Amino acid sequence: MLKGKHILLGITGSIAAYKAAMLCRLLRVAGAEVKVLMTPTAKEFITPVTMATLSKNPIAVEFYNPENGDWHSHIAMGEWADCYLIAPATANTIAKMAYGIADNLLLTTYLSARCQTVVAPAMDCDMFCHVATQENLAKLRECGVVVLESPEGELASGLMGKGRMMEPEQIVEAIDSLLSPKQTLAGKRVMVTAGATVEAIDPVRYISNHSTGKMGYAIADALAKRGAEVVLVSGKTALATPQGVRRVDVLSAEDMYEASVKEFESADCAVMCAAVADYTPVIVSDSKIKKNDDTFSLELRKTKDIARELGKVKGARKIVGFALETDNEQVNAEKKLAEKNLDMIVLNSLRDEGAGFGHDTNKVTFIDSTSRTELPLASKAEVAERIADRIEELLK
Ligand code: C5P
Repeated sequence: MLKGKHILLGITGSIAAYKAAMLCRLLRVAGAEVKVLMTPTAKEFITPVTMATLSKNPIAVEFYNPENGDWHSHIAMGEWADCYLIAPATANTIAKMAYGIADNLLLTTYLSARCQTVVAPAMDCDMFCHVATQENLAKLRECGVVVLESPEGELASGLMGKGRMMEPEQIVEAIDSLLSPKQTLAGKRVMVTAGATVEAIDPVRYISNHSTGKMGYAIADALAKRGAEVVLVSGKTALATPQGVRRVDVLSAEDMYEASVKEFESADCAVMCAAVADYTPVIVSDSKIKKNDDTFSLELRKTKDIARELGKVKGARKIVGFALETDNEQVNAEKKLAEKNLDMIVLNSLRDEGAGFGHDTNKVTFIDSTSRTELPLASKAEVAERIADRIEELLK
């Protein structure tokens, strides 16, 4: 399952560290190469000899080997890893990660690693439920860290509750589906519109908006990783095309309409994430408009609503739309769902901190004809995964 994958296993000072031995073994059985990092306290719970023997690699605790000065490069370890799994992760390590504290090798590696970081929290139920820990976990999620579930059950303290480390077998499964996502959308074709449209006024000026395309690109990426054939109809953005995605570049709302109609013909689903101009200049001047009078009026006409037009002809195909609202959010979103004949609408409000244009995070609510699901603030990649889950359900 994990053949050839490089897993960097970080162990912190929790009693659940005894399960790290089994976790390491299972990762190796699944085909992964494993290197282990430990905090100084972790050594009190499980020995370096055990972990070095099981991982078949020397473990690292300190920044350098005091015997010979050999430097343990946190940068090199982060670069080597396809995934940095911190299991068990104590409340203390989680808090330090949330605040960027870097007082041991495990933490400096977290700050410098470019790969996906995954934490498996392990602590007493009261520590786990404490508002400080929950806030720290939320911060990590916002930074794109995957936080594994901490199941309820008997804890080392004898108490019952949440805070146990996820069982090693389940952790390996979670890592496997992260690194090699199941091809649950194989054979499906999805069109995603993203980015801002550009409406020319003259050869120099245009009307556009603040959309960066981040959310739509993250969705295209998540869908492609699940095996879907994805075409991205993209307006203005500075982003790179996600791996395996076909991209059609457009500028104006009219261009986007034409490309979308064409691409939707062979699609099973459309995700309308683009910020399309509602109005465009009636006349586009051939030459640069001169500065003369004190005031200047621009006559605009309505553009075509692409989502609405596709909604009219969709038949059995599915359409997911977006709504960015500043007031009366839910009512407006529900109205759009019905009027545009959409199957689901993803509502984001500009009032929510960290949501909307340019951020790497988003806070959304899924609205369909029967339900309303509010998601916590999360990275756009995480929100894209949840949207991909919904698309899987729609296309079943
Ligand atoms: O009506 P409003 O612009 O708020 O609707 C937002 C939804 O409609 C988004 O999914 C957006 O991509 C789509 N839309 C469109 N064409 C337009 C305007 C909006 O596809 N001209």
